[in-house]
Amino acid sequence: MLKNDQLDQWDRENFFHPSTHLAQFARGEAPNRIVTGGQGCHIEDRDGNRLLDAFAGLYCVNVGYGRTEIADAIAEQARELAYYHAYVGHGTEASITLSKMILDRAPDNMSKVYFGLSGSDANETNIKLVWYYNNIRGLPRKKKIISRWRGYHGSGLMTGSLTGLHMFHKKFDLPMEQVIHTEAPYYFRRDDVAQSEDGFVAHCAAELEALIEREGADTIAAFIGEPVLGTGGIVPPPRGYWEAIQPILEKHDILLIADEVVTGFGRLGSMFGSQHYGLKPDLITIAKGLTSAYAPLSGSIVSEKMWKVLEQGTDENGPIGHGWTYSAHPVGAAAGVANLKLLDDLDLIANNRDTGAYFNKVLADALGDHPHVGEIRGEGMLAAVEFVKDKGSRTFFGPDDKVGPAIASALAKEGVIGRAMPQGDILGFAPPFCLTRAEADEIAGKTVKAVDAVLG
Ligand SMILES: Cc1ncc(COP(=O)(O)O)c(C=O)c1O
Repeated sequence: MLKNDQLDQWDRENFFHPSTHLAQFARGEAPNRIVTGGQGCHIEDRDGNRLLDAFAGLYCVNVGYGRTEIADAIAEQARELAYYHAYVGHGTEASITLSKMILDRAPDNMSKVYFGLSGSDANETNIKLVWYYNNIRGLPRKKKIISRWRGYHGSGLMTGSLTGLHMFHKKFDLPMEQVIHTEAPYYFRRDDVAQSEDGFVAHCAAELEALIEREGADTIAAFIGEPVLGTGGIVPPPRGYWEAIQPILEKHDILLIADEVVTGFGRLGSMFGSQHYGLKPDLITIAKGLTSAYAPLSGSIVSEKMWKVLEQGTDENGPIGHGWTYSAHPVGAAAGVANLKLLDDLDLIANNRDTGAYFNKVLADALGDHPHVGEIRGEGMLAAVEFVKDKGSRTFFGPDDKVGPAIASALAKEGVIGRAMPQGDILGFAPPFCLTRAEADEIAGKTVKAVDAVLG
């Protein structure tokens, strides 16, 4: 419990919270939660509540809270060498070791890791590398990036543009002109309810082909996608989606960026989503699960194919003009090394596969027949429940009904944190990998109570 009883006032007077209704918060109309501790799958707040965090923070505390192995590694690194930069060939034992550990786990065609701090800046790096790559290849017109509606790739200028969710564009003058969006691989929300899954995949592929045709393949550099749509609704791809998309990209010389900020390091029950779905990306974005969020660290994993051209670029133009002060920060890197080691030592990805499948099953058993539950979907330790006004006709609630947020807040009152996904009435779950079956049962049982409390 915190002693400072002014925190609430200071919070509302001084602290600019991301993704928050600023006016309501400042007026005291929206709740705050001051988090004081965490252990395993639970967090505690200053009011003494202990909550089962079924979203692992922002799907990032993958190994769970309170891991002293990572805390000790961070403290040791900070004592020994808190900082040195990575420019012009400098490095630390932690950053070099971590790059080796990542490449040992990444798909075979990957070659090097550039370290950043957030998923957003890693995607920013990726787009710069793609543009540089095509300039070196003598293709200066080939620069547009295709993203999907409902994709989430960050909230910077370029990355907010790549993101395909309206709230990240509205009033920010985004998306920028270099970004174009294509169909989301979201079968449940298909326009034609009668369409088969195969038919929908063919439709997504045809939409992509048509977009490339319209814009001209000579103007398109890359396609970015999450192996499983995350913030857009936690939507595993329809069967055969990636098999249909990849050949189109190859045919038109369009690079594939797999944004694995959520799926990297085990969330789907495989080390990477790329391996899970047989993707052969040219760049992979990593963040969250790299350190389980014990310290901020992200990365761009670069394929051998691109790396060769980057080398050629520096032979022709001198050192690459890209880098942050905190690239490969040793404290973050030490956290990453300890985190990846813990994943192995505790066999957490196997637990994730097993308990994730169990969790998805108990959720489906508990809510599958509910008249307002349109779909329950998931993969590995990711799950979502999508609510509808009418199941038979698949009629969605209106944006003002705010059913998703109401259910998430009823669930928090029951002591479980789920996430109301930002677009649609979707309750998302992404628990830490150490979730037990008893905790999975608890989440499912309390979700039923929360749904009944809001929808009857
Ligand atoms: C797939 C994906 N990419 C990128 C990001 C952006 O990461 P960050 O919030 O660390 O900038 C996120 C964040 O949720 C994400 O889910």
